[in-house]
Amino acid sequence: MKVLVATEKAFATIAITQIRAVTEAAGYELVLLENYKNVADLLAAVPDADAMIVRSDLVTPGVLDAAKKLKIVVRAGAGYDNLDLTACTAHNVVAMNTPGQNSNAVAELVFELILYQIRGGFSGKSGTELRGKTIGLHGFGNVGKYVADIAKGFGMDLYAYDPLVSERVMKNHGVKQCSHSDELYLKCQYISIHMPSNDVTNKSIGYDLLRKMPKNAVLVNTSRKEVIDETGLLKIFEDRPDLSYLSDIEPDCKTVFEEKFKSRFIFTAKKMGAQTEEANINAGVAAARQIVDYFKTGNEKYRVNK
Ligand code: 3PG
Repeated sequence: MKVLVATEKAFATIAITQIRAVTEAAGYELVLLENYKNVADLLAAVPDADAMIVRSDLVTPGVLDAAKKLKIVVRAGAGYDNLDLTACTAHNVVAMNTPGQNSNAVAELVFELILYQIRGGFSGKSGTELRGKTIGLHGFGNVGKYVADIAKGFGMDLYAYDPLVSERVMKNHGVKQCSHSDELYLKCQYISIHMPSNDVTNKSIGYDLLRKMPKNAVLVNTSRKEVIDETGLLKIFEDRPDLSYLSDIEPDCKTVFEEKFKSRFIFTAKKMGAQTEEANINAGVAAARQIVDYFKTGNEKYRVNK
């Protein structure tokens, strides 16, 4: 039985050691395709894989066609918009994710971005503080909850909007529920986005919502660029020189920001949210365990395709 780790953005070495320990203890062989540069390399590596662990790597119908023996693919992470679920089902491949395993790393990045920005990039210029400020969590899943816990430590006032989460759950984390996204954007100086990319959420954050934000508001996006309507984003940035956008994903309109909105944005060069040793270990080992468990017991708890 071969388990292929195919990651264009490699896990930390310590995570690979632990993934190997889990797979080899089960009697499987671990094969590594790390830091691959093009799809051809991925296509060449998949034909004899029985199981595959990926990160944001695209699992397309082409990859699945080439992966003749594949029975299970696990996305070591939360968002599985990179897996073609319909094609996985058509190829009789079980698709899973590992929810919650890298959430703290993403939540910490939210504050790393904010703190750097509001202290003027450590330039010596006078900055601002977080204590007493409002933060709004647009989406209150695993990452949103970690962000809430950290924000409390900073003495912030917390709000959230998530139609899928009850007021009771939010209250347990010290968060006040907003009944509409408009209310969240009106109330909060900091908005942190924590939603998946799908048909409902894509382009759902645009001009009408962003124009509601208070003076000097900061929008933080560590989820997916697709959820932002970039035409609306550019328009509000033209209208409102007080706004900042901090994103763990370069937007398609990055060059416009570079030309026109200097010092009002941070875009990481590569998605960094889950790129810590701890998150790599948590998500990678969870993926390996889920594969072993699936083969040994048929456990499909984290299956995301039908
Ligand atoms: C996720 O959905 O889990 C995060 O976006 C992390 O993605 P990555 O594994 O590609 O860093």
